[in-house]
Amino acid sequence: MLLVTGATGGLGHETIDCLLTTIPAAEIAALVRDASKATDLVQRGVDVRRADYFDYPALVQAFRGIEKVLLVSAVAFTDRVSQHRNVIDAAKEAGVKHLFYTSIQRSSDFVMPEVTESDLATEAYLKASGLVYTILKNGYYFEGLGYLIGSEVPESEIEVPAGEGKAAFVKRAELAAATAALLTSEAHDNQEYTLAGSEAYSFHDVAQELSALAGRPIVYKNTEPAPYIAQKVAAGFPEAVAKFFAQWDDAIKHGMLAVPDGTVERLLGRKPTSLREYLKTTYFPAN
Ligand SMILES: NC(=O)c1ccc[n+]([C@@H]2O[C@H](COP(=O)([O-])OP(=O)(O)OC[C@H]3O[C@@H](n4cnc5c(N)ncnc54)[C@H](OP(=O)(O)O)[C@@H]3O)[C@@H](O)[C@H]2O)c1
Repeated sequence: MLLVTGATGGLGHETIDCLLTTIPAAEIAALVRDASKATDLVQRGVDVRRADYFDYPALVQAFRGIEKVLLVSAVAFTDRVSQHRNVIDAAKEAGVKHLFYTSIQRSSDFVMPEVTESDLATEAYLKASGLVYTILKNGYYFEGLGYLIGSEVPESEIEVPAGEGKAAFVKRAELAAATAALLTSEAHDNQEYTLAGSEAYSFHDVAQELSALAGRPIVYKNTEPAPYIAQKVAAGFPEAVAKFFAQWDDAIKHGMLAVPDGTVERLLGRKPTSLREYLKTTYFPAN
């Protein structure tokens, strides 16, 4: 039996949606911390188990009888390393054979505070655990682009402190489909995969595509983090969140998310969603 954590979140839930199309529900378990958010999974025959990453005994109980676990990484700024260590230790104690971990893409040596730092610590811990591991280095979600450039079509420019950096954005549902394909196939023991888009885009590319779709000039202006953060705070985001967005921009600037990868395309059996398609359906749904 295969268990997906974070099953009430975006990636975990979409991975289960994909698994349900290829394997029987009786072979799928979901780890949640709030069962009231998982009634649809129960209705579809998924074995919903309850545990918080901080609750070690509950994790051991939840992992009984499970062969493979997909550990959907914990959210940033919540002591991710302790949570991931708990999951890894509990999986081992419960007799799990193989653990997949959702890390973040690392196309350069840039170490993003909190995110890459905790990924590196988790990966080292997992590799030393004796469990069979598979590390999925996920690209930046297309769905996160709106946080960086705003959720409305800009009038004439987008301002982001990302320099000339590029990102191989990937749609979360396509990441989920690729993840489900890896979970249900063999030969991934002790392997690491980058799961990103097949093309990388700069913010000049984003502005150019928005211009073409809007039918007016929209340009990209590289900015400094401080005014960018101030602008996000003025738009209503808490300062810590605004700073976090700026850290992602910095990661893009330094190439951390820059290198496209063909693994998602190969696993999907088709080209993943392009920037143009994503922007069109998200920013111009009526067109
Ligand atoms: N590649 C990217 O662009 C990108 C962007 C954002 C995040 N991420 C990372 O990828 C992960 C998955 O992304 P997502 O979009 O699916 O995030 P999400 O929608 O926020 O889902 C996170 C899931 O983790 C669960 N969770 C959080 N803390 C937990 C805990 N202490 N114990 C048990 N479960 C816990 C949440 O449960 P609840 O439903 O109860 O909250 C939720 O189901 C994120 O957690 C983050 O590490 C990647």
